Amino acid sequence: MMVRDFQSVIGEECLRQMPEMLADLGLPGNGAQAQPDAVIACVGGGSNAMGIFYPYIPHERVRLIGVEAAGSGLDSGRHAASLQRGVPGVLHGNRTYVLQNADGQITETHSVSAGLDYPGVGPEHAWLKDSGRAEYVGVTDAEALEAFHRLCRTEGIIPALESSHAIAYAMKLAPTLRPDQSLLVNLSGRGDKDIGTVADLSGADFYCRPSCRGQSVKTAAPIHLTPGAVQ
Ligand SMILES: Cc1ncc(COP(=O)(O)O)c(C=O)c1O
Repeated sequence: MMVRDFQSVIGEECLRQMPEMLADLGLPGNGAQAQPDAVIACVGGGSNAMGIFYPYIPHERVRLIGVEAAGSGLDSGRHAASLQRGVPGVLHGNRTYVLQNADGQITETHSVSAGLDYPGVGPEHAWLKDSGRAEYVGVTDAEALEAFHRLCRTEGIIPALESSHAIAYAMKLAPTLRPDQSLLVNLSGRGDKDIGTVADLSGADFYCRPSCRGQSVKTAAPIHLTPGAVQ
């Protein structure tokens, strides 16, 4: 409750500001209060998503979409998608969806983003999933990395690799919507902290100081990006 209530400042601000922003863009918005058609946020432990979702819960026409780290793929065994591939269990004192083995031991997780690399999720998301009020989807490491580059190039905003998962899903969903529909995407953090990881994974030569030349930040094989994704 503490995390949700403190984080929900951002959701309250969105609820108040979206009608004016949509009007400025000449978009009708969705519902009596002119809100977006969907709110999209990445889900690690669940705090940024809970904060932006919470004030929107009573606005039933607004879809709430949480994006988990699908890592190398939801069926690869290398991901951190607790809500989509976990089962009910207890972790850090709360009962929620947990990535665990048949003996109840927590399993290894993987994500390109450190902040999503977590085997559980705040229990209010478990309730939102079970009640059907929110949907949870997965975005892979490669999709998140492409979205990272895309936002840098097109908007001059360096998103955190965690937030890049939400952007990647927005990029998938947007072409399925009508031009007058709108999406609200939560940028949970900035990506300055991720530049070394992104450079390594994108095959770029990056080092913070000359003595670090040749050292990789994250020991991982480069991800093969779609041709044209990075220019
Ligand atoms: C920038 C950023 N976004 C998202 C997350 C994921 O956490 P949560 O799902 O609790 O918001 C983290 C976690 O460290 C983070 O650093």
